[in-house]
Amino acid sequence: MSDHDQVKMTPMNYDVNRPKAENPVKVMDLSLRDGHQSLFATRGRTEDMIPVAELMDQVGFWAVETWGGATFDTMHRFLNEDPWERIRTLKRYFKKTPFSMLLRAQNLVGYSNYPDDVARAFMDRSCENGIDIFRTFDALNDYRNFQTVVPKIKEYKKHFQGCICYTLTESRLGGEVYNLDYYVKKAKELEAMGADSICIKDMAGLLSPYDAYPLIKALKAAVKAPIHLHSHFTSGMSPMSHLKAIEAGVDIIDTCMSPYAYRTSHAAVEPLVMTLLGTSRDTGFNIHLLAKINEILEKEVMPKYKHLLDTSKMSVIDINVLLHQTPGGMLSNLVNQLREMDALDKIDDVYKELPKVRKDLGQIPLVTPTSQIVGSQAVNNVLFDSPGERYSKISDQVKALCFGMYGKTAVPIDPEVQKKALQHYERGSEPITCRPAELLEPMLEKDKAAIGDLAVDMDDLLIYALFPVTGKKFLQWKYGKEDPPASVKAITLEEVKKRDDLVKKALAGELVEPKTVSGPEKTDNLRKFNVFVDNEYFEVGVDEVGGSPVIRYAQQIQLAGGIPMAPVAAAPVMPMPMAPPVAPAPPVAAAPAAPAPAAPAAPAPEKKAEPAPAASGSGTSMVAPMPGMIVKYEKKVGDTVSAGETVVVLEAMKMENALPAPASGTIKAINYGSGDSVAKGDVLCTIG
Ligand code: CO
Repeated sequence: MSDHDQVKMTPMNYDVNRPKAENPVKVMDLSLRDGHQSLFATRGRTEDMIPVAELMDQVGFWAVETWGGATFDTMHRFLNEDPWERIRTLKRYFKKTPFSMLLRAQNLVGYSNYPDDVARAFMDRSCENGIDIFRTFDALNDYRNFQTVVPKIKEYKKHFQGCICYTLTESRLGGEVYNLDYYVKKAKELEAMGADSICIKDMAGLLSPYDAYPLIKALKAAVKAPIHLHSHFTSGMSPMSHLKAIEAGVDIIDTCMSPYAYRTSHAAVEPLVMTLLGTSRDTGFNIHLLAKINEILEKEVMPKYKHLLDTSKMSVIDINVLLHQTPGGMLSNLVNQLREMDALDKIDDVYKELPKVRKDLGQIPLVTPTSQIVGSQAVNNVLFDSPGERYSKISDQVKALCFGMYGKTAVPIDPEVQKKALQHYERGSEPITCRPAELLEPMLEKDKAAIGDLAVDMDDLLIYALFPVTGKKFLQWKYGKEDPPASVKAITLEEVKKRDDLVKKALAGELVEPKTVSGPEKTDNLRKFNVFVDNEYFEVGVDEVGGSPVIRYAQQIQLAGGIPMAPVAAAPVMPMPMAPPVAPAPPVAAAPAAPAPAAPAAPAPEKKAEPAPAASGSGTSMVAPMPGMIVKYEKKVGDTVSAGETVVVLEAMKMENALPAPASGTIKAINYGSGDSVAKGDVLCTIG
């Protein structure tokens, strides 16, 4: 039996009307979800999907992924878009291609388990708004977390796709935990739950071609449901893995339209179409139609997004994934977090710490949210531990994981780490063994009472239930109770052109220093863009007055040695937050903990404050140890606190961090409110 026994060859020239193949490879397009989530920080706007929607509907995709994952969060938070409206709008253009969404099981589209009443309501609304296929995964592959959502998928007669998160403990498939038996066992569990298809979800691009082949073979032999492969390009192996998977008989492959392809995204569809041309697995796609879609994307859409693409490296392949087996998004989060904390020189230590933390926490797969949990804990350990004490600053999420709130880990959590994490844990010091959501009280009624009339329907209420702080803010924008900040507005092609012209001029040395005296006052509409060209960084301010955007200033900043992404010995600290010659933008909230190369926090002069208590005459200042968004204060002015007690919950890197009081005393002043963005070193409150 040859290794490509599933593919029969018939050499032929390209022909739009070629005969249908015996067993065409089915293709799901991810451009409108995973594509822009991977490359453009999930900032894709609905208006930029419409120009290609009807054409994409003609391609013959098995499905298009249009929703889920980070889209729900990003849309309401950064784009001022109603996530539910996207499904309904796109449905008007996609008349025949089914919609798929990425569902984080009991985490829905958030980062931790929600109570069953919220999960059921979310599923009702997702089905009724138009989602057809539910690609469902649990970060721990603990399918007890599927128990609430799957019956809903079945109730609406939708397609339940069960995922197995693909992860490794060594550089190849095998070893004690993640071997062929593990994946076959998981596939059988999914089949027993009624999976209509089974997906290998290789979020980090770890699957190598010669592991793909036996893996797909084994799964095809073990279960009847179609097998779907989702393998990110990050490491560069996925096109090869696709081919070996096809030879092994995989049913469905995930790709992107080429402008949304490669880097940490997915392989492009066009090379796959040509590769399979004339074979028994020919996709049958019209390559001219694909080219037409790409042309529209290139001309009308991509210019608005290219500033979000991380071009700090020439290479489209992340060698670190091959070396460290960590997802690309997780690495860029770590780099961003370390950079913002002036600690980028610690990246090597973090790389060393990651596998240790992962092992301590039960060898969990690294995927949202576990990748962030492991990543930020590794950063905490490197930055805050002393030789005498490990895990000196344990995040709330790690405590929850140790308690069992995410589910069962592949192997037991290190008992000492677990004990330390649960020492003062609010839920108790004894870990649970039941399905985590069983511990969660119903929430919708309380949320409804809390948000009141601001939530007009269930869709609104769910936005608030899932994201209480930013969701409430969005509803205030939606119903005109508050003006949305300029930062959430769409960028126009005219703005892009003006920005590019300015950068060109600056590079040619033709840029005249901005004369702030002669220009009009900057307005609240001023938006800043960070533009990176080679090793130079331009801060461009664009002010929209009376409908037409006016460029206010462009500030060129030379980076010291570029942006160090890879581990570099004692990397110079980036002088990023330099004060521009003109006043900084109006105090619109800087994007908190943006998941990708978003703008750095407002360019205020860097405060060198250490996270240590800063005592002064009027008391002890509690400062933000990292940039982030205030979720809530646990104390109010006048309350007494003892050192170590939680005062503030700060969201950073999508994680909620409970910040302890640096000293005992009375809260004298509180400087921020829920939803405010803070920079590292900002004084959060004063204890006297
Ligand atoms: Co993905």
